[in-house]
Amino acid sequence: EKGGYEHFMLKEIHEQPKAYRDTMRGRMNAAGNKVILPELNLTEEQIKNIRNIQIVACGTAYNAGLVGRNLIESLVRIPVENDIASEYRYRAPIVTPETLVIVVSQSGETADTLAALREGQANGAHVLAITNVVGSSIAREANSVLVTLAGPEIAVASTKAYTSQLIAFTLLGLYLAEVRGTQSEPEVAKILAAMQSLPEQVEVILAQKEAIKAYAEQIAEHKHLFFIGRGVDYAVAQEGSLKLKEISYIHSEAYAAGELKHGTLALIEEGVPVIALATQESVLEKTVSNIKEVKARGAHVLAITHEEHKDDLLRSVDQVFVIPQTLPLLTATLSVVSLQLLAYYASLALGHDVDKPRNLAKSVTVE
Ligand code: F6R
Repeated sequence: EKGGYEHFMLKEIHEQPKAYRDTMRGRMNAAGNKVILPELNLTEEQIKNIRNIQIVACGTAYNAGLVGRNLIESLVRIPVENDIASEYRYRAPIVTPETLVIVVSQSGETADTLAALREGQANGAHVLAITNVVGSSIAREANSVLVTLAGPEIAVASTKAYTSQLIAFTLLGLYLAEVRGTQSEPEVAKILAAMQSLPEQVEVILAQKEAIKAYAEQIAEHKHLFFIGRGVDYAVAQEGSLKLKEISYIHSEAYAAGELKHGTLALIEEGVPVIALATQESVLEKTVSNIKEVKARGAHVLAITHEEHKDDLLRSVDQVFVIPQTLPLLTATLSVVSLQLLAYYASLALGHDVDKPRNLAKSVTVE
């Protein structure tokens, strides 16, 4: 049932190209310049009236929402807030009938996320669920459902569900942008074309797993490490950090690169591994200056970037891992795959139960 893989997690990491294709299939027109999402169940007028969006979820699904915010704000220019479901419920969120609440849940059964959905509905909001399980409680109660077609996810650590959520958010952002006229048809076509290449580009990363494994064996000897990045890279850093903690039990923190010097830089000492995500051209120089700050304190830095920046970065870091070139908006769907593999191989090197990490359950149906 593990299809020849040693663990479900590794199998599911390898199923991502298929999960991307399945989640995109049938959701764009033949000309490749329009997204089709009848399941949103929202009229043009309702979409034009949306004043704010709240994305609510837990754990990895929350982290997918961080990328979702970036996508929607860039494409549609609607203000988006991210909330952790267990916080949202109790903070008296400001929800109106012009709010679109998006709940994200692989299982569709997470108790706090379900409660957040009800909170949104009680305030008159339309609640859209992005979920991987069609018959789940969240899918049944939501006003509309955008299904991710990742297939069953068995490993406790979520991988293909997260990346399918990113695909779903991209499609959603493009669709809202079409209706609200914030992106032209050629712009939409360009993004859709780039999305079609993602499955093959994931394969390219998977083919380099030995290099990631070697690095994972290096970091497995450390007690603490840091992930840094800006923008989408910061969102991915948060997911990379969660994944690593969850299955390797190595302590790590994800930091917005520019925020380090406001306190956390004090923790950087000789030999501490820092993984710097540096895929965003527009802030690359800024990220490089943050990399230099940690290097100056003795950190050992691995940068994740595109080929064109490799030589440049090698002047300030110890190692570079190259991911295939895509649009800045879409890099999360590629860079995160390298971090999933990193967490997997670190856990493996430490001899942990990769698919069933201690203290954790696949579906959290208690509050
Ligand atoms: C981490 C992980 C958890 C879940 C979280 C929400 O790898 O899997 O953080 O993402 O418990 O679960 P769902 O998405 O089922 O609501």
